[in-house]
Amino acid sequence: MPHRLVVSSLLCSLIPSLLLVGCKAPPEPQTATPVAAPPAETASVKPGINQDFLDPALDVTKYEQRFEGESREVFSQRARIAALLPLRPGMAVADVGAGTGLYTFLFAPKVGAEGRVYGVDIAPKFVEHITKAAAERQLPQVVAQLCSERSVELPAASVDLVFVCDTYHHFEYPQATLASIRDALRPGGELVILDFIREPGVSREWILDHVRAGEAVVTQEVVAAGFELVRREETPFLRENYVLRFRRR
Ligand SMILES: C[S@@+](CC[C@H](N)C(=O)[O-])C[C@H]1O[C@@H](n2cnc3c(N)ncnc32)[C@H](O)[C@@H]1O
Repeated sequence: MPHRLVVSSLLCSLIPSLLLVGCKAPPEPQTATPVAAPPAETASVKPGINQDFLDPALDVTKYEQRFEGESREVFSQRARIAALLPLRPGMAVADVGAGTGLYTFLFAPKVGAEGRVYGVDIAPKFVEHITKAAAERQLPQVVAQLCSERSVELPAASVDLVFVCDTYHHFEYPQATLASIRDALRPGGELVILDFIREPGVSREWILDHVRAGEAVVTQEVVAAGFELVRREETPFLRENYVLRFRRR
């Protein structure tokens, strides 16, 4: 190819890109996005799991017998479980999925009159029960909070610790609920999850069927929601449950 032809064809191929470079908009300012947005959940991950709790005719006494019986290890080992938590006088704690208030009322003397324990639940009957029991026991630090299936409905940066006992597998919209827990926690606040060990071949059939996710999946989901795993507690006194401690990132 003659020299002139080569130069002109080179220029032809370069000019459009030079023009493009010249017209390019200035680069977007880089904003820090420390936490990736969680995937939007449009459908429940376990439809129907909370149906009985949402029944307006829920019999609280029946659930007191079920949740607060010695055959349930989160009841029989409740003092050891509570001792794992860094509870101090004056602290604000949320017991998310409080049920009959088993842990809400166990935490109340530990945070004292200057502290606060939110007993948070989606079931209006449990919330009514906690409100009534707190008044009867003269525990003004206990506040029952009705929440939604997607949000714990607590004020932003209002609590130091969130405890979720036997309830994570009941979250139908875990990413939305976790985002609301993250918002409710003060900087450096902790999320403690106690849930069933779910291992095919090891766990009971009922657990395999009832519990959606095992420990590894739970950890992945919580980390994706903006938490870091602090540690897995050593709990030789628990046969069927694990305890994970996370911190708000
Ligand atoms: C198996 S009970 C555990 C109650 C209590 N934590 C205990 O261990 O005794 C699960 C509780 O979680 C509540 N729950 C289910 N989904 C919830 C959500 N997204 N937010 C708050 N509470 C929820 C249910 O209404 C129920 O009271």
